[in-house]
Amino acid sequence: MEDRIEKRTAEIAVIGLGYIGLPTAIMFANAGFKVIGYEIRKEVVEKINSGEAHIVEPEINELLQRAVGNGRLRATSNPKEIRDKDVYIICVQTPLKEDTTPNLEYLENAVRTVAGVMKKGSLVIIESTVPPLTTVKMAKLIEEITGFKPGEDFYMVHAPERVMPGRIFKELVYNSRIFGGITPESAELAEKLYRSFVKGQTFKTSSTVSEVVKLMENTFRDVNIALANEFAYLAHQYGIDVFEAIELANTHPRVRIHLPGIGVGGHCLPKDPHLLVWPARDDFGLIRLAREINDGMPLLAKDLLFEALRIANMPPQEAIVAVLGLAYKGDSDDTRNSPALAFIEEIKDDVAEVRTYDPFVGGTHGSLEDALEGADAVVIATDHTEFRSLDWKELGRLMRTRILVDGRHIVEKPPKGFIFKGIGRGEY
Ligand SMILES: NC(=O)c1ccc[n+]([C@@H]2O[C@H](COP(=O)([O-])OP(=O)(O)OC[C@H]3O[C@@H](n4cnc5c(N)ncnc54)[C@H](O)[C@@H]3O)[C@@H](O)[C@H]2O)c1
Repeated sequence: MEDRIEKRTAEIAVIGLGYIGLPTAIMFANAGFKVIGYEIRKEVVEKINSGEAHIVEPEINELLQRAVGNGRLRATSNPKEIRDKDVYIICVQTPLKEDTTPNLEYLENAVRTVAGVMKKGSLVIIESTVPPLTTVKMAKLIEEITGFKPGEDFYMVHAPERVMPGRIFKELVYNSRIFGGITPESAELAEKLYRSFVKGQTFKTSSTVSEVVKLMENTFRDVNIALANEFAYLAHQYGIDVFEAIELANTHPRVRIHLPGIGVGGHCLPKDPHLLVWPARDDFGLIRLAREINDGMPLLAKDLLFEALRIANMPPQEAIVAVLGLAYKGDSDDTRNSPALAFIEEIKDDVAEVRTYDPFVGGTHGSLEDALEGADAVVIATDHTEFRSLDWKELGRLMRTRILVDGRHIVEKPPKGFIFKGIGRGEY
């Protein structure tokens, strides 16, 4: 196998062609491997095979066309086509259930599919973010199905993905990577494989350490954002601008406060802290509380909006509210766990009309001007670049009442003639 990896003749199957799986498949294909992507959504398979990506990401279409065009990448929904591959890379979603416990159904189904077609000596890699101990459990599941002994008859690794949407193709190459093997040989093989395109540092460890590392990284960010959000609440009570305070505090050589906002979204940050604490015996107050604080931020945005409506003498039930941005982060089309959607859910029964405009996702209105025509309030819920340089004087002319609520700190100076509120920007 080592030899086949070095000569790039090892055949790779990538399971799940979403935000992570498709770019990963493209990278291996363009590094010279023959790659087949296995995906249960048939419409995604068709699109990919026609050279068109189903996700928005810089450079993705040209890189995909190169991979598909030279015959190194193909997608399929037929599990027979991924039989006897050398490497299986599992990139399926690992969401939460309603009760915030992990939903490992997609992962288990993917592992069962792989177990049904793999051969002795295959290398199975889980890139999905998973609760601690999952890789070892999945290796046992493969053993139950195939009779192959983990570490002897097949290799298994957790290789967590750290990329950020919008920078995926750069970060896939330059980020450092961790390879957590169920045996040292497994980690060694995976490291060799990814070295075909990774230029960042690489580290080898056990699969459980690797699982915990990935979850700690996102929990660190979530807890720190929660602290910044709590600072934002305090700033409202003291009537100060939290962003000015954070900038000054961050001049301290050992302080790096994160930025507050309307909430934390995406497939990863809202769920990973739950995955980290779920299999543990004890309760972990700080991590859970941070989640609650971040989940509560759309409510703060609602309070700010309603306070602005009160100042404008506009009864909420008569107000037309235009929400700018549906994606959870700027310049992305990803709406998973988006705080913009949570905010809309919070206000929709209390106002006359909610309009939405998002240049990447779509929305109720196809243009910003249409969304603002006759509106009473604008709420910025996503930091898309397009929203940073808007001419509020001009846009204000379209509106019935001029209220602007900035949930993302992208309006530097409150525009003249508007009732302005912003998360962390002074009094309620
Ligand atoms: N999106 C990110 O920025 C990011 C970053 C780091 C880590 N991760 C982790 O990577 C994993 C994948 O995330 P994603 O954003 O790519 O998810 P995604 O939902 O975009 O993609 C998952 C894909 O897998 C497919 N799928 C589900 N079950 C399948 C099965 N049994 N067989 C074949 N295909 C199947 C789905 O149809 C979907 O297309 C998650 O665990 C996530 O936490 C994501």
